[in-house]
Amino acid sequence: MSSVSVVLTVLFLSTTWSLRTDQQFWKDLAKKELEEAKQIKWNVGTAENVILFVGDGMGPNTVTATRIYKGGESYRLAFEKFPHMGLLKTYSANRMVPDSACSATALFSGVKTNKDTIGVDASVKRGDCAASLLPEARLESLASQALKAGKSSGFVTTMRVTHATPGPLYAHSADRNWECDAKMPTGTEQCKDIARQLIEDEPGKNLNVILGGGRNSLMPSLSSNPWVCSRNDSRNLIEDYKRDKSSRGLRYAVVSNKTELGSIDPDNDYLLGIFAASHLSYEYQRNQTDMPSLSDMVEAAIKVLRKNEKGFFLMVEGGNIDMAHHRGWAKVAIDEAAAMEDAVKVVMAMTSEEDTLLIVTSDHTHTLSINGYPDRGSNVFGIAESSPYDGINYTTLSYSTGGPNSFQYYVAKDENNETTVRRRDPSLNDTTDMLYNQVAGIRLVENSHGGGDVAIYARGPHAHLFHNVHEQHYVYHAVMYAMAYSSGCNLFPSFTLLTIVILINTL
Ligand SMILES: *[C@@H]1O[C@H](CO)[C@@H](O)[C@H](O)[C@H]1NC(C)=O
Ligand SMILES: *[C@@H]1O[C@H](CO)[C@@H](O)[C@H](O)[C@H]1NC(C)=O
Ligand SMILES: *[C@@H]1O[C@H](CO)[C@@H](O)[C@H](O)[C@H]1NC(C)=O
Ligand SMILES: *[C@@H]1O[C@H](CO)[C@@H](O)[C@H](O)[C@H]1NC(C)=O
Ligand SMILES: *[C@@H]1O[C@H](CO)[C@@H](O)[C@H](O)[C@H]1NC(C)=O
Ligand SMILES: *[C@@H]1O[C@H](CO)[C@@H](O)[C@H](O)[C@H]1NC(C)=O
Repeated sequence: MSSVSVVLTVLFLSTTWSLRTDQQFWKDLAKKELEEAKQIKWNVGTAENVILFVGDGMGPNTVTATRIYKGGESYRLAFEKFPHMGLLKTYSANRMVPDSACSATALFSGVKTNKDTIGVDASVKRGDCAASLLPEARLESLASQALKAGKSSGFVTTMRVTHATPGPLYAHSADRNWECDAKMPTGTEQCKDIARQLIEDEPGKNLNVILGGGRNSLMPSLSSNPWVCSRNDSRNLIEDYKRDKSSRGLRYAVVSNKTELGSIDPDNDYLLGIFAASHLSYEYQRNQTDMPSLSDMVEAAIKVLRKNEKGFFLMVEGGNIDMAHHRGWAKVAIDEAAAMEDAVKVVMAMTSEEDTLLIVTSDHTHTLSINGYPDRGSNVFGIAESSPYDGINYTTLSYSTGGPNSFQYYVAKDENNETTVRRRDPSLNDTTDMLYNQVAGIRLVENSHGGGDVAIYARGPHAHLFHNVHEQHYVYHAVMYAMAYSSGCNLFPSFTLLTIVILINTL
């Protein structure tokens, strides 16, 4: 046997070995899981710190595909090993399928609201500036509650810092698109754009960490791209941020690239990092930029936040999962989900399960499907099988809705002189390419969100509160309950105090 064939044989054996199918293999796999399950104990202690990851658009099928991408079907992502999990129902006050603004408001402020609105209750219709100004319509977020309890608070995102997911942490807006003054329609002069709310209002100006993109919403700029925000009122909100912190004698740092972020003095109590004109670039293209990764940002955020002995609240958004799904790039979306898992691992290494409630969830799904029946161990971005009706291959991943590039059908004349609609043969393209567009069934402007439940994974104090099928807005209430156990903060009236009041009244 030549050395080449020896190597090939060994390679072949090791591949087949990793895909064992014998009884012992399955039994050992299950026994390991059972041992872990038997070890699970409730942590009824104090959630001093709360870190809430939102994989934007990261539905259960995205998680499954990410798992297969990273290590095959039997692999487990770091957060899939968390002791507790449940599902969240993501419908909003007015829609069966939500957007990120209403779902983030539900997660962070505990009330379901109308699609496309930020930090206000369902009495506010989209675009109703006057209604959004009523104090009773305005919701208070976990970030604000944490600050009130003396904790530090902040967020990290790969999106603009004024975008739909971080917005509800600090802003109240009748329209998610009012990120900058140039996007405010006439008749809304009384309402502040979201960028100004972040820099000028509470709780935005008291957030200890703000890391993400969106320079154009914060500084004078003009863009003809309708998806991009621009500042047209000649204000420089980054300078305003510095002035505010200086005038209050606060220690702060403002950074704009990976190098600067890596060398900040963690003694600073306030950190503003704006790394892109709009959203941050995809992780796989990041090495062509000077932007930090989600992991880099999370590490810097925790270094700043963890100095507070009363603890902290941090929201982390993996926003490009959603962006890539909207464009029909399943591989990019899954690569972004993998990058978010890396950031979860950073948090796991820097915090303790004893005092830190670590939650990984999503705001809504996308319409990604995993189709039958590819072989076990095959490339999740490859071909599944071919259709018996037209003989054309189809990919393992597809979407039910898509933009123009996902709509891979064409009109053909059949031999029998009939006009038919056919799928393009995916085998003619490299389906494993990053920018391959998986086929979609219904043509829209872009791939739409899905309405399925999302998973929530939790470890740390009161993680067991996530245990079955929950409402999405339950997350806020469960986190508040977990934080209220903190000796340093009485977010709920203490029972001891109530007892004393009752006793005094009785006496
Ligand atoms: C920008 O400001 C100028 C001058 O105030 C105004 O004419 C223009 O309409 C504004 N553009 C936008 C997009 O708000
Ligand atoms: C990072 O930003 C600073 C300040 O704007 C600049 O001086 C430096 O050249 C930048 N570094 C890189 C690698 O872009
Ligand atoms: C960036 O990373 C990609 C994928 O790993 C690689 O193909 C590319 O050559 C890298 N580009 C640079 C400029 O390093
Ligand atoms: C279908 O895909 C397989 C690879 O999975 C390929 O070998 C085959 O040629 C494809 N069939 C057609 C008709 O393109
Ligand atoms: C379909 O077939 C008929 C009969 O052969 C022919 O007259 C007609 O032109 C064909 N139509 C097309 C669009 O090819
Ligand atoms: C397939 O390849 C062609 C030629 O490069 C390209 O125009 C097309 O967009 C690709 N299709 C998909 C779905 O990526």
